[in-house]
Amino acid sequence: MKGIFVTQEALSRSKSQPTYRILGIESSCDETAAAIVENGSLILSNVVASQAAYHAQFGGVFPEVASRQHVLNFPLVIEQALKEAHLDIADVDGIAVTRGPGLPGSLVVGVNFAKGLALVSEKPLIGVHHLEAHIHSVGLSERNEETKELLYPAIGLIVSGGHTELLLIEDRLQYVPLGATLDDAAGEAFDKVARLLSLPYPGGPSIQAASRNGDPNAFAFPRAWLEGTWNFSFSGLKTAVLREVKKLERYGSSLPIEDLAASFQQAVIDVLVGKTLMAAEKFMARSILVVGGVSANRALRETFLSKSGLPVLIPPAYLCTDNAAMTAAVGYFRYLAGQRDGWDMDVLPNWPLHSLSKSSSFKGLQ
Ligand code: KG4
Ligand code: ZN
Repeated sequence: MKGIFVTQEALSRSKSQPTYRILGIESSCDETAAAIVENGSLILSNVVASQAAYHAQFGGVFPEVASRQHVLNFPLVIEQALKEAHLDIADVDGIAVTRGPGLPGSLVVGVNFAKGLALVSEKPLIGVHHLEAHIHSVGLSERNEETKELLYPAIGLIVSGGHTELLLIEDRLQYVPLGATLDDAAGEAFDKVARLLSLPYPGGPSIQAASRNGDPNAFAFPRAWLEGTWNFSFSGLKTAVLREVKKLERYGSSLPIEDLAASFQQAVIDVLVGKTLMAAEKFMARSILVVGGVSANRALRETFLSKSGLPVLIPPAYLCTDNAAMTAAVGYFRYLAGQRDGWDMDVLPNWPLHSLSKSSSFKGLQ
């Protein structure tokens, strides 16, 4: 396996490292999640209440339904996270919560629960960027598993329902955004194309399943390379699928769903893998990380692992989609860096990742 690994035992033997346990709270979209993570890597508990079944009838996330489900789910989810870790709130060292980006009404629920808990337990409150949390999902591990350490500089690809971002990661908390999608996010494209093909929400897993027996070369869908930039675009691809569906319907043909799904999936994979590997070469990266909901896609994972000559770190599928273990992990590193937030901490639904970055030491960006 490609990657750099250190055993948990080796880490716990390192006497210089005190133990800090962070409770993570996440509600940026439609998952209500709480988790406890030790020293930014060891998962003591990881509870996720998925609302997918509530939103499936709308074919996407219905924001008000999401907020109200968070209100109902959080007490049970947090209680369960503490119970599974065999800890009391008094035993944690800090409370990390997603401030943004995300749905405003969903973020508000998580941030308010975190503030209430921090207030009564007198623990530090740490507001976390959701995409920075996805980046740190690669360093998480269960007990008796190896801990993964990234080699810097790394190239990071974040592909989720709301974001497609390519970054140069110079150090643990130092990112330089290189490019992003100009229109639909990769996950959003999966969800919209699934809807076109009458496949159920969430679209990513549905397209993956339908593609299994499809021919990825059946339809020559366009790849938007946007040469000279590190940006992405998926709306033209979505429109090309729509045009093909309409054409087939006009001729009265039954839709070759599996071939359409596989050809669409292949077009997304070609661009995501192609541009990431080009960036890795250009910025002399020593490793690559791929995170976010779309990184759960099996064909995408296999393509990265087979095409890259560098170590590629991709979390297990259950840590690719939204969870609070990654929130707790980044909360730990921000806690060590001295971050403490006050009661005036607000949600930031459109928080840009570049606001976290410092100036780059790399000469000749772009
Ligand atoms: O990171 P995430 O859980 O939530 C956001 O922060 O957006 O990502 C959700 C997205 C959805 O668009 C979903 O369709 C996509 O990740 N996704 C997948 C797969 N599993 C989830 N896309 C492709 N293949 C999958 N297996
Ligand atoms: Zn996410």
